[in-house]
Amino acid sequence: MATNRTFTMLKPDAIENGHMGKIIDMILAAGFSIKAMKYTRLSKAQAQEFYAVHSERPFYGELVEYMTSGPIVAAILEKDNAVADFRTLIGATDPAEAAEGTIRKNYAENKGRNAVHGSDSDENAAIEGKFHFADSEIF
Ligand code: RTP
Ligand code: MG
Repeated sequence: MATNRTFTMLKPDAIENGHMGKIIDMILAAGFSIKAMKYTRLSKAQAQEFYAVHSERPFYGELVEYMTSGPIVAAILEKDNAVADFRTLIGATDPAEAAEGTIRKNYAENKGRNAVHGSDSDENAAIEGKFHFADSEIF
């Protein structure tokens, strides 16, 4: 399997609940290497654009409010089969449905406040990485 990259955010609930270090440990233990990382806070416009695909969904307003409620960690990760393997590592959107040992099973509060984001395709991973990082910040 070719090495590729995915994009993640540790969401405001994960930071607020003190899970940043443990989640980064799980990501590294699963074999991902960090190609870019920053501790930052999304503006409303950034959160609206990032989740624009969900703009017609009933939870969109709540999602934008939540994603701007506090700091996040954004990162670009590399590994063989990165996009699919990272989605496996984070688990289902709703932690009640997430497999044992996944990040969301361990650390998510609920379906909305679910600790972590993972890109859903190589194409979106590239778009999302560029959205958050300048070329000079990617290693
Ligand atoms: P993500 O994009 O953050 O990695 O999450 P995902 O692919 O597992 O889920 P997606 O369907 O893309 O939804 C994006 C985020 O919106 C919030 N959400 N809330 N209350 C709800 O029913 C609901 N559904 C989705 C979650 O924060 C979800 O991760
Ligand atoms: Mg998604």
